[in-house]
Amino acid sequence: MLGIRFFAAAALALVCGSALADPGDSPPAKTEQAAANIDWGKQTAELVTVLKLKGNPADGRETYRHCRGCHRGEGAGLTDGTYPRLSGQHREVLLKQITDTRAGIRFNPKMEPFAARHAVSLQEIADIASFLSEAFAGETNGQGDGALAVQGEKRYKQLGCADCHGLRGEGNAAKFYPVVAGQHYQYLMAEMQHIQTGQRGNSHPDMVKSLRGVTSADMKELASYMSRLSDHRTSSR
Ligand code: HEC
Ligand code: HEC
Repeated sequence: MLGIRFFAAAALALVCGSALADPGDSPPAKTEQAAANIDWGKQTAELVTVLKLKGNPADGRETYRHCRGCHRGEGAGLTDGTYPRLSGQHREVLLKQITDTRAGIRFNPKMEPFAARHAVSLQEIADIASFLSEAFAGETNGQGDGALAVQGEKRYKQLGCADCHGLRGEGNAAKFYPVVAGQHYQYLMAEMQHIQTGQRGNSHPDMVKSLRGVTSADMKELASYMSRLSDHRTSSR
């Protein structure tokens, strides 16, 4: 009897304890720790080299066959979010994300063998990035619930997302901030979650901060808004 009473009290204490605990007190997940140990601003030697190479978009279109099976024709990606849209992304962002994946600091096991050193050379990566940054895959991206976009715009500005990704979601090439305009809704959802938990790996520490406490309902609004921005990828080119 005493044992059961003790067990009940201990269970109650556990429940109350976890209900009262600040979510920030829970031990960080392994991925979160691994991601936090990466020095975001430090460019890998490969990135420094590939940024200086001149890419040839015609050769890049050819070599892109290594990537097409997943990222589809013209870098359109898939609306279900499994593969991101790459067309119209800044060359610098593409180069950083590919070389970070090769260096194992952006965690992307699915793609790693296809982007590895034995699969594509740095010149080929430079060519592919030139091709993709100029490619246009059309406006048929996945967009989520349109009714959420107005609230999403407010949040995007309030949380400081616009400070880096731009008011039109155009990003910033020189600073390696990606275009988020016209990206697939489901991919945006997945990335915000992966950035929050550290599962993506290398993520700007200020962005990790601005996503702290953002719920999945907030993310739906943000993703609906970003997926509907299309200026950079359409009218401005
Ligand atoms: C087996 C499927 C697969 C292949 C082949 C593949 N990728 Fe990927 N790629 C992915 C996945 C999945 C992601 C998104 C990972 C995530 O969720 O973070 C991705 C992400 C990327 C990103 C980052 C996009 C962003 O918005 O951050 C770039 C750039 C990229 N791939 C380029 C390439 C290039 C170039 C090739 C060919 C050399 C290639 N990929 C081949 C699956 C693939
Ligand atoms: C300090 C600048 C900064 C801020 C603030 C910021 N981001 Fe980012 N964001 C980045 C960078 C840089 C990347 C590319 C990954 C990396 O290196 O962190 C990125 C990547 C992303 C991606 C993945 C895009 C892709 O193509 O894979 C999404 C989605 C995103 N950010 C959404 C947001 C949202 C939503 C906010 C606001 C809550 C936000 N970001 C705030 C800099 C920022």
